[in-house]
Amino acid sequence: MKKIGIFASGTGTNFEALASSDEIKSLADIKIMVCDNPGARVIKRAEDKNIECFVFNPKEYENKAAYEKEILEKIKELDYIFLAGYMRILSKDFLEAYKGKVINIHPSLLPKYKGIESIKRAYEAKEEYIGVTIHYVNEEIDGGEILAQDKFKVDYSKSLDEIESQVHDIEHRLYIKTAAEILKGEK
Ligand code: GRF
Repeated sequence: MKKIGIFASGTGTNFEALASSDEIKSLADIKIMVCDNPGARVIKRAEDKNIECFVFNPKEYENKAAYEKEILEKIKELDYIFLAGYMRILSKDFLEAYKGKVINIHPSLLPKYKGIESIKRAYEAKEEYIGVTIHYVNEEIDGGEILAQDKFKVDYSKSLDEIESQVHDIEHRLYIKTAAEILKGEK
């Protein structure tokens, strides 16, 4: 069994998808959920699954190095860290400690639409295809080697909300599939 952690800041539907997947559960123990937002919905989701949580408020720390030091102490030795809507950039030192072991999901066809509101920007630009990317994390925002992508042709008779939910469905499926491949050593 691999030991994994999931970092999230918000609603936690990607966390939920990974933590509910029988395939993921057969390959890995989710040792911890790390969250930088004490009001996030993802906390209840983790508690309901009896997954240990480390929740912190960055404002209560002197700087990023101070809270990342605490994260590193809390997470101990993990094989992989999956970011699932974690809204903070990990420092060079943190990534050095977990080199090649931090994976992120982003709701765009990277390298396009890095950063926030990616689905909205792609929709407003009338992109023919909208999609999702899973990639290794490096120091650049939404940079790092791409592991998997999936996309669909956009039907512009649908609202932005509908397209967003289509993206999230793809995210959940692709994250489970790709995480399983990583955990099996196939990626
Ligand atoms: C997802 O769209 C993910 O790709 C992005 O943040 C969002 C998190 O959603 N990085 P959720 O909290 O998993 O529901």
